[in-house]
Amino acid sequence: QDAKFKNEFDILEFAKGFYHYYLNHTKEGKVALDYLHNRGMSDETIAKFGIGLAPSYSDALVKTLANNRYSLDVAMKLGLLNEHNGQYYDRFKSRIMFPIFDKIGHVVGFSGRVFLEGDTHLGKYVNSPESPIFQKGKLIYHLNDAKLAIRRHNRVLLFEGFLDVISAVEAGFVESVATMGTALTEDHSRELRRLTDQIILCFDGDKAGLAAANKAIPILMAQNFSVSVVEIPNKMDPDEFIKTHGKEAFSKLIDQAIPAVDYQYRYIKRQFNLEFVSHREQFKRQIYHFAYTLQSHTLQELILKKLAYDISIGEQSILQEFNSSKSQVYKNANINNNKNENLQIHSRQV
Ligand code: UTP
Ligand code: MN
Ligand code: MN
Ligand code: MN
Ligand code: MN
Repeated sequence: QDAKFKNEFDILEFAKGFYHYYLNHTKEGKVALDYLHNRGMSDETIAKFGIGLAPSYSDALVKTLANNRYSLDVAMKLGLLNEHNGQYYDRFKSRIMFPIFDKIGHVVGFSGRVFLEGDTHLGKYVNSPESPIFQKGKLIYHLNDAKLAIRRHNRVLLFEGFLDVISAVEAGFVESVATMGTALTEDHSRELRRLTDQIILCFDGDKAGLAAANKAIPILMAQNFSVSVVEIPNKMDPDEFIKTHGKEAFSKLIDQAIPAVDYQYRYIKRQFNLEFVSHREQFKRQIYHFAYTLQSHTLQELILKKLAYDISIGEQSILQEFNSSKSQVYKNANINNNKNENLQIHSRQV
């Protein structure tokens, strides 16, 4: 019986088992199971990812923990409970529970999704609160189970949502991972870079997803990742795309992933209406900024030639202007004796 108190992970593992049992063996569970089945999720997948259901009443987990003599204070610290007037209550109620595992397979927290029509105003997801063992800036969903496949295929597919990962894994892409609803951090990137140097971003096809990809690229390139981007059509996310068009179609999208530099060029270009000369001028400046950040001179030149074409200016005048503004940047940088920092600051101001 002492084994139960061995560590915090035991409580989280117990909670996972509780939620999973509740999903599979109760009336409320049946409704949640139907929701998952309607989304196209198989029972095998539900079991494999340890998916469960938090009951609708507010003392279900807390009573079960107490009956099994787990420490409620520890459960509280782990974010499983709330405290109100000196009483403990369940933090997660009427939510489909997705356990989150760390890179060696411990349950470190949960993400709970609403599934009842009337509950959508409560916010789609509730996650475990930040704690020393649940740090969203470091956690990578499905990393433990993806590790081998990432090494074997020498690539990782990065998604925005864990439901996208689950669909991708069902479709055969085991080398799939996601961040936990946060922007990609340097820590995330470093963790993945230990396993491979090829990363394919499979973010949602909406505006937020496109912007998230654009933000993630420089972080990844700074750690020498070779980055490409899958563009999901019609603002779908990968889960919706796979469910609508099937895994072969998704596989094709991956094969057609766009190299990061081209993606960034297009991302910038999309923000302008090049019918207007003033937009062309602004577009040109933004591309100069972007070109400064590129390490390779060949890539710089290719990007600038693309720019020249897109705004109908001679290649030579673009290259000349870029180079003279660049040497201006170097000059300023030298004066201030702090080359790198100033390079960045000035290149942003060009
Ligand atoms: P999405 O809104 O794209 O959710 O958020 P989703 O993964 O497509 O989920 P479904 O298909 O609607 O069920 C992407 C990720 O952002 C985080 C979650 O981690 C989610 O997987 N997120 C989103 C939150 O943490 N809270 C939210 O309210 C919304
Ligand atoms: Mn069903
Ligand atoms: Mn989204
Ligand atoms: Mn989504
Ligand atoms: Mn989705």
